[in-house]
Amino acid sequence: MNTTTLSEATATMDQDFIPEIELGLLAERASISPKFLYDPLGSHLFTAITLLPEYYPTNTEKNIFTQYQNEIAQIVGIGGTLIDLGAGNCQKAESFFNSLKPSNYIAIDFSVEYLQDALNKLAGKYPHIQMQCIGMDFSKHLSVPDTSSNTKKTFFYPGSSIGNFVSSEALELLSQIKKQANQGGLLIGVDLMKEDSVLMAAYDDPLKVTAAFNLNILRSINSHLGSNFRVDQFRHTVKINHTENRVELYLEALEDLTVTWNGNSRVFKKGELIHTEYSHKYTIESIKQLLKNAGFASTHIWKDPKDYFAVIYAQ
Ligand code: TRP
Repeated sequence: MNTTTLSEATATMDQDFIPEIELGLLAERASISPKFLYDPLGSHLFTAITLLPEYYPTNTEKNIFTQYQNEIAQIVGIGGTLIDLGAGNCQKAESFFNSLKPSNYIAIDFSVEYLQDALNKLAGKYPHIQMQCIGMDFSKHLSVPDTSSNTKKTFFYPGSSIGNFVSSEALELLSQIKKQANQGGLLIGVDLMKEDSVLMAAYDDPLKVTAAFNLNILRSINSHLGSNFRVDQFRHTVKINHTENRVELYLEALEDLTVTWNGNSRVFKKGELIHTEYSHKYTIESIKQLLKNAGFASTHIWKDPKDYFAVIYAQ
């Protein structure tokens, strides 16, 4: 059992992110990077989203994992290092420990405190797996430490988080994964395009958990920046963009208002939007093409009966 936190970023995090946050807030079309959704409260709210019946991605992916567990393990191969990108509560990776039998598990997430808690619990349950947790914003650059054992690396990127990147960024990240995978590969979950009503319910649930999750980003920004966003002056807004094949998440100002921080300010007119996240939906053809462009030569694909979601092993 070996749990380490390699988190050069945490101590200087607030400093590092201020220019990025300011740039987004001061742009004509304001935006906040989705990574700020996942502060400790946001991480818990996202876990709550995954328990909503309307949020089909998590359940559908889980069903695919369960149904094809053995077949997936056969194709992926057992042993080696499992690298979990955006590990969160580590539950999805844990569901593969018995079938994939990794000797090493590297969990990477932006929200490192939440991750460390999850990993501590896991390390006690699986003493034979070497575990390491890394606080990293891999959306900019991915660098996985070389594990002492020179085994194959399996990258695990579930939850269709790849959909949160625009295609040039997705291509860049997948190319970096391909370069670091050695003889291994990538096991990825990808959300597929489907009818608007299903998407709307998933991203604007009647219990308003998703609204709380999205709005919480303003409190997260207040704590990084010292700004004075008021959550009650905004509302969670969802748009479906059929040209770009994506769900677009925004916060909409409910009145004219001014946000101030450290000598800076930003005026929002009533109805003005702050962009927080894109969630791109793929077709089997479009994701296969993207993986091919990133250097992956072959793909194995598993889907649910409704074709809502695909799990792909790319090599
Ligand atoms: N990666 C998740 C997704 O695209 C995140 C998410 C779910 C999300 N609901 C959200 C992000 C609402 C912002 C707002 O499905």
